[in-house]
Formats: sequence, C-alpha cells, structure tokens
Amino acid sequence: MSEFTFLKGPKDWWRQAVVYQIYPRSFSDANGDGIGDLNGIISKVPYLQQLGVDAVWLSPFYPSALADGGYDVDDYRDVDPKIGTLAEFDKMVDALHKAGIRLFVDIVPNHSGSGHEWFQAALKAAPGSPERDRYIFRDGKGENGEIRPSELSSHFGPTAWTRITEPKGEPGQWYMHLFASEQPDFNWDNPEVREDFLKTLRFWSDRGVDGYRVDVAHALVKNLANGHLPERQSYDLSLVKHDGTDDLFDRDEVHDIYRSWRQVFNEYDPPRVAVAEAWVHPERRHPYASEDNLGQSFNFDLLGEHWKAGRFKKTISFNLASAAKWGSSTTWVLSNHDVIRHATRYGLPDGLNLDKWFVEGGVNPPVNNKQGLDRARAATMLILALPGSTYLYQGEELGLQEVLEIPHDQMQDPQWFRNPGKSRSRDGCRVPLPWTSTGTSFGFGPGGSHLPQPSWFGDYSVEKQDRDEASTLNLYRLALALRSQLISDESIQWHRHLNSKVLHFSRANGWQSVTNFGTKPVKLPAGKVLLTSQPLVDGKLPANATAWVK
Ligand code: NOJ
Repeated sequence: MSEFTFLKGPKDWWRQAVVYQIYPRSFSDANGDGIGDLNGIISKVPYLQQLGVDAVWLSPFYPSALADGGYDVDDYRDVDPKIGTLAEFDKMVDALHKAGIRLFVDIVPNHSGSGHEWFQAALKAAPGSPERDRYIFRDGKGENGEIRPSELSSHFGPTAWTRITEPKGEPGQWYMHLFASEQPDFNWDNPEVREDFLKTLRFWSDRGVDGYRVDVAHALVKNLANGHLPERQSYDLSLVKHDGTDDLFDRDEVHDIYRSWRQVFNEYDPPRVAVAEAWVHPERRHPYASEDNLGQSFNFDLLGEHWKAGRFKKTISFNLASAAKWGSSTTWVLSNHDVIRHATRYGLPDGLNLDKWFVEGGVNPPVNNKQGLDRARAATMLILALPGSTYLYQGEELGLQEVLEIPHDQMQDPQWFRNPGKSRSRDGCRVPLPWTSTGTSFGFGPGGSHLPQPSWFGDYSVEKQDRDEASTLNLYRLALALRSQLISDESIQWHRHLNSKVLHFSRANGWQSVTNFGTKPVKLPAGKVLLTSQPLVDGKLPANATAWVK
C-alpha cells in the first residue's frame, strides 16, 4: 500500500471547484516562530472543511531566501525548514484528502531562487559552461563588459540584468532576471531544465498533489536566438505583441512545454491539472487551458473591472464563451496575494491608479469600508453562482480589508523597495490572519507575526464572526454549502431586468442570481429567496447586494 494518500474522483473535478488560496507564511503558525507553517495548516483543516472549499492552492512552501515571498525557490522538491518537513507535507495532504479537499501547489518555472544549487554551480563555473547554460548569462557591452547586455528592465524595476563576480574575483558576466535579482530566469532552451521540471511534477504528483498553479506561465520561452536580447520594460504590458512572436511573453513555443507537462499529468488517475498564471491578451488566455495543455488558465478580468453591471456582463460572457471554445471552464478571481483585497478596492473609485494612490499614502481618497465590504460580498456571491471555478484568497471570507498601515521599514515586498515611489507594496494583503479577537497575534500563533497586524484585526477574527450569523464568514459558509447543492451544468441564461443596473442570470436548474449594481433597492424575480448578501429592504434587494433565488 502506498504511504501517500490519493483522492480519486472524476477527471474533471476541477471544472467548477472552489479553490482556497493559502499563503502559508501568513495562515497559521503552530511552532510560534512568527511564520505560518504546515502544522498550522493541518490544525485548520476542520476550518477549511466547515468553510466548504473543494481544494486548497498552496503558494510556495519550498526552501527559499524569501526575497519574493517564496517565489524565489531554492529547491523544488523539498519543504522550507522554516515551514515544515516533507513528512509534515505528507501529513497535510493526508489530512486534506481525508476531509475531501484536494491540493494545488505552486510551481515556479520561469526562475529559481539565487540559492538554487544550479545557480550556485553556474556562479562557480566558467562563461559558456553547461552550468551557465541553464540560466541566461551574457557578456556585458563596453570595453570591459561593464554595460548591461540590453535595456531590458525587470518587472519589479529597475534593470533585469545583474553582473556577477567571476570565481577568480574579476567582474564578470551578467544574468537575466525578469523579477528580483535573487530570481534568475531559467533558459528553457536547455533540455536539462525541461527534464528537471518533469521530475518535479512527478515528485509531487506521486505524493498525492492533485494540481498545480503555474507562476508566470507565459514567460518561459523568450526570443534569445542568434544573440538577440529583449530591450524593453518587462512590466509594461501595453508593449506586448499578441501574435505569439513577442520577445518575452506568450510565445507560441511555450505551449510545447505544457503539452509535455500534460503527458505527465495524464500518467495519473485522475489526471493532474494545472492553472496558468498567464497575463496575456484575453483572446490568448484559454489556449493554456486546452485539454492537451494545462487544463485551466486564470481569468483575472474582474480584478480591474469597474462596478458596472454592463462591464461585468461583458467580461462574464466573454470568458465563458472563450473557455468553452478551448474545452475548459473559466476561473473567477477577486483577490489573491498580489492585489489589494477586493473589500478595499470596492471602497475606492473605479479606475483609480492604485499604485499612485498607495505610494501617496493610501488616504486620498479614503477607503469607504462599508461600500467596499457590501460590494465584495455581492461580487463573491455573483461569481459563486457562475459556471467555472472560483479562487478565493485566505481572509476574504472574513471580509478583510487591506492593511495600509504597515511601516515602510517593515515591508517585505521587493516590488516596493526595488521601485521606490512607483509601485505599491503587496504586503497589505499578506498580513497573518486573525483567528481570535484578542491575544498574541490574534491567534495566528503563540509567537507574534512576521508582518505587523493592525489593532482592528480582532474585529474581523474568525472567533468573532463565528458567533455572528450575519458575518461575512457565515455568508461564505452558507453560500458554499448552497452552491454545492445547486451546481449544475455549465450554461447560464441572462434575463433582462427592468433596471439596467441589475445583472440577473439563471442556471439550467432554475437557480437565479441577481446583483444590484445601482444605488436604489430593486425588485427580485418570483421564487424562493435562498440567500442574500445584505438583508432585503421591504422585500427589495438593496444597492451593492446579490440575492440567490429559486
Ligand atoms: C507571480 C506571483 O504571483 C508573484 O507573487 C511573484 O512575485 C511573481 N509571479 C514572480 O514569481
């Protein structure tokens, strides 16, 4: 008998799954070192089960120097000792599976951490060596190679090139990193790199992992042939070409890699699945999700969508049709570890430049917390009623607001300090969760919290919301329980409402969802009201609210 636990089930269990993202360092800390860990996650499996999620997506838990919150991986087939051990990982898989919850893990294939043994070997080896060829090393320009090889800038700013010191002590070659300098990009033209990732996928799949979230899935293959080097700002997505020939992103050849991953996934029963984090043109999103590819691709359109019925409708219709064309289901995402929590976003004017707002202090305009939370609850119920899978981010079930008061010198995000005055910090959505209303780190762990928690966190705690029937936590629990009973085939039908600020659709079994994007209460269609995100007002659905009716 295998020592690992596997969950059987239909091969497409993920098509309409609710997946809960855990950012492990900030979820629950069992050993009291201020950093969340795998034992902490194990202790919260009953919480996840009661919440009613189908799967968990675990952000990186691998050995890492934490230059980018763990997205700088030093060993793809081990667990960071700060977080746990492989044996504890197996225990976690076992506990999740016994609770009927599947597991996605994050795979970071575009770059490793600079502590990875391959990168360390490359630093010790000579220019042109096989060790250097696993990464993207180039000579500098200028008489002594002192000028960086190209004008390419990193996603976190400024340059995407860092010069190394050669083993004998002289200034040497440069290596490319689309993110922080501690995140050297792999050379995916190198067969050893390709083979090693297949090995990693088998390693985790053999241990019972059910799926993968693929970091920067669109960036692996770059245009580097015949001495060519990309010369632009990598973070300016308006510069990307959408025909598969861009220098950096979404090149057609990247799909060859995922087709080879698919062969590995299909060695398992049920086949493993993956979801691509691919920031590509919407029309080029779902090819990553096709059956011979990863299975699913994140649709991030609602992260920036204005609170307007018409805009939501357009985004929903487009993504349902586009995913179906590629044989997949789409995903719905309102929050993750990279964006400002949606309860805060919805408390700000549509279209606000959030980076600028944040670097200018995050006070002008101030966040309207009530509007933000009302809309967040309404939006969550809306997406839960849609076909496709829903990705929830830890803490959104508590209606958590972004933490805006982290002192600058305690911020950890390289996006913040590599690009001073230009980019916001992502730390505010990564603050450890409040489990209790009072006490050390609000129940996160017995030894403090690696990012400071604000005093208002206790009001959002699980302990407090557990007792309150009207809390956001209980709304999520009810909504997920109902959803699992109501879920049906993947079609929807739109209905015209008398008020153009209302979105109304139904599923094949008569389950209807109505969202009021306007400012005045509106009438609900006939039927039994199953759940509302706000109490009805004289039988009407108030502004910024969703109701499910059958
Ligand atoms: C996307 C991840 O979500 C983000 O957190 C990370 O900084 C970059 N990829 C680089 O790995």
